[in-house]
Amino acid sequence: MSKIASNLQIDSARLWDTIHETAKFGATAKGGVRRLTLGPEDKQVRDWFRNACEAAGLDVQVDALGSMFGLRKGRDMTKPPVGLGSHLDTQPTGGKFDGVLGTLAALEVVRTLNDAGIETEIPICIVNWTNEEGSRFAPAMMASAAYVGDFTTENILSRRDAEGVTVAEALDGIGYRGASPVGTQKFSGFVELHIEQGPILEAEAKTIGVVDSGQGVLWYDGKITGFESHAGSTPMRLRRDALATLSEIVLAMERIATTHGPNAVGTVGEAVIANPSRNVIPGEIAFTMDCRSADAAIMDALDADLRAAIAEIAARRKVDVTLDLVWRKPPTHFDAKFVDTVENVAGALGYSHRRITSGAGHDSCNLNTIMPAAMVFVPCKDGVSHNELEDATQADCTAGANVLMHTVLALAGVAS
Ligand code: GLV
Ligand code: MN
Ligand code: MN
Repeated sequence: MSKIASNLQIDSARLWDTIHETAKFGATAKGGVRRLTLGPEDKQVRDWFRNACEAAGLDVQVDALGSMFGLRKGRDMTKPPVGLGSHLDTQPTGGKFDGVLGTLAALEVVRTLNDAGIETEIPICIVNWTNEEGSRFAPAMMASAAYVGDFTTENILSRRDAEGVTVAEALDGIGYRGASPVGTQKFSGFVELHIEQGPILEAEAKTIGVVDSGQGVLWYDGKITGFESHAGSTPMRLRRDALATLSEIVLAMERIATTHGPNAVGTVGEAVIANPSRNVIPGEIAFTMDCRSADAAIMDALDADLRAAIAEIAARRKVDVTLDLVWRKPPTHFDAKFVDTVENVAGALGYSHRRITSGAGHDSCNLNTIMPAAMVFVPCKDGVSHNELEDATQADCTAGANVLMHTVLALAGVAS
């Protein structure tokens, strides 16, 4: 890191203001944000982001899945840019920081370089990836997955939300089906700043997480078919209750994930009773399951143990259970050189730091399969995320943005 460059700091107040300004788009009464991908609030924040990028002199392109790319020229335009950014969509009960910090910190890096009159050797490009959260449309991180070739663009465009709306219709609805084919914008590598979304940095009083790996993910769609019958007149021994079955499945999943722990987690986040009624025994339930581990062998063991447990429960209760694996994302091992660069920058800037595994999925995990990528984490309050109470300090967000900026400067080079 050059001496002049190391004195450069992002504008902490400006970054903090933009985080709170954009939190108005989808603000909830509890202080969080509900900004489902490709909905009206997502359009509002996208319009804001596009305007801010253009005001900062960036050339903005939108791809066929709505991901937004803001290019800042470098001295040598023959080389692909260093990418930085994250996402602006949120969970239904999301917070102000998940994804937002990384995207707005990328903007802040550009604004700081502009103010300081710094030209990078190779260009940089800031990104807002479409549908990182996977809450409205599955899977999560679908735009970056298509970018790296895990899915075709057509496959993703045809995915439907719970109301039957396709990604294509939702993109057209907000005017963000862009002209550039997915993959048009090339990168020499990618760096993403994010809140940790877990308790480790806060517990150890470390400012920066140098992310060297990420958990793999298994997403399932499940269906239980029992038998609807009268809640008053059906004896307990004759019931084929779909909800009681699901209850056993959830507890079995908890037991299995705990047995494979501490490096495994499992969650049933959605469950819908078909035609629910207070005095009808539930006959049909659709549910989702999300299981994760940073160890591919443990992922396989989770899958095998879950299927065995579900088969036993279904046979005993005389119900049908289907469990379809709809997404398998292997564990991520971030690029060693990029990870070292983040670590060296954090140290040079004087921030306490440690290496860390990401519990959450991120677009950078996809990108790392075809280019060098790395991530920077900062602590969040009580490790809470995917919750309206999600919080992080201005000082930590500023530190993370400074590490992001100097990592990008180290990778992109400063033009002499
Ligand atoms: C993305 O938010 C995830 O589920 O990890
Ligand atoms: Mn995120
Ligand atoms: Mn998230």
